[in-house]
Amino acid sequence: MKKNTKLYEIVAALMAPGKGILAADESDATAGKRLSMVHLPNEPENRQDFRELLFAAPGTEEYLSGVIMYDSSIKNFTDDGTPFPDVLTAKGIVPGIKVDLGTVDLHGFKGEVVSQGLDNLEERFKEYYDLGARFAKWRAVITIDDEELPTDAAITMNCIILARYAQLAQAAGIVPMVEPEVIYAGDHTLQKAEMVTTRTLQILFQTLMTYKVDLEGLILKSSMVLAGDMCSEQSTPEQIANATMRTFHMSVPHEVGGIVFLSGGQTPKRSTENLNAMAKLGAQPWPITFSFSRAIEEPVLMAWQGKPENIPEAQKVLLHVCKMNSLATQGKYDSAADAILK
Ligand code: 13P
Repeated sequence: MKKNTKLYEIVAALMAPGKGILAADESDATAGKRLSMVHLPNEPENRQDFRELLFAAPGTEEYLSGVIMYDSSIKNFTDDGTPFPDVLTAKGIVPGIKVDLGTVDLHGFKGEVVSQGLDNLEERFKEYYDLGARFAKWRAVITIDDEELPTDAAITMNCIILARYAQLAQAAGIVPMVEPEVIYAGDHTLQKAEMVTTRTLQILFQTLMTYKVDLEGLILKSSMVLAGDMCSEQSTPEQIANATMRTFHMSVPHEVGGIVFLSGGQTPKRSTENLNAMAKLGAQPWPITFSFSRAIEEPVLMAWQGKPENIPEAQKVLLHVCKMNSLATQGKYDSAADAILK
């Protein structure tokens, strides 16, 4: 297949050293859950206000290479009428878009789901490209439960769908950010999470190669390898970093353009500490950075509280969180000295 070097330029911009990605791509329903943390109703104006606060914050371009949006936000505007993707592009931040449409039950496989959204995806990619998007995320959900889950059948189905979306993205000149999220909720051990994540990523990359997806023009968005949040034995950042890197070395081909992490429901501080521990292990075959949603947005929401007079302070908190994560990608985050991340 002919290589599309434009994709590599986008990957290089997104994986620029010291920068990471803000995942502000909640569906309208999930955005409502965020707003409810500060007792704001899930109304379009509140969603728009919060996105404008995030996207227009001064100085974030030093630490953010990309921002992932949702269908309703990539088509939205600032109060003065500037399209959100244009606000980002003007700052040198690459606009991205979440393109899966959420999960549905995988029939016959209790407790397992597949993501939907392949219908009309070619047309949607054209539209998103015209709106300025240059990368696109698709999230698949892999659940660990007792001895049985996940099944290879569910992993394989999700990986085939991820491969199809990745093909269509690359054909549209858009970098796929392929996200098989191994869910953190549960009482599974670190060892179990490592086994499941390794298996998932091995099937994923086999499938991507079978369908001739160009791995150099693709970014993996991964969960960190974590013991479940209800597991009695929790791990140190060093244990998490070692388990996560072992997993990647067992399953991620070296030509993959980059790896970014979701935060997955960990606290902001924990997410940053774990990222820092990964960087401390030294250079890896792939550039590695963050692509957090909750771990970036929650401290900002708390500072904002929906009040216009709090916007400058909330934007300062955003800048701080981005800077701490930037430092963490270099192994330079001083957790003890940071009073803001909790
Ligand atoms: P969290 O960082 O909140 O896990 O979200 C990242 C993401 O993009 C999940 O799809």
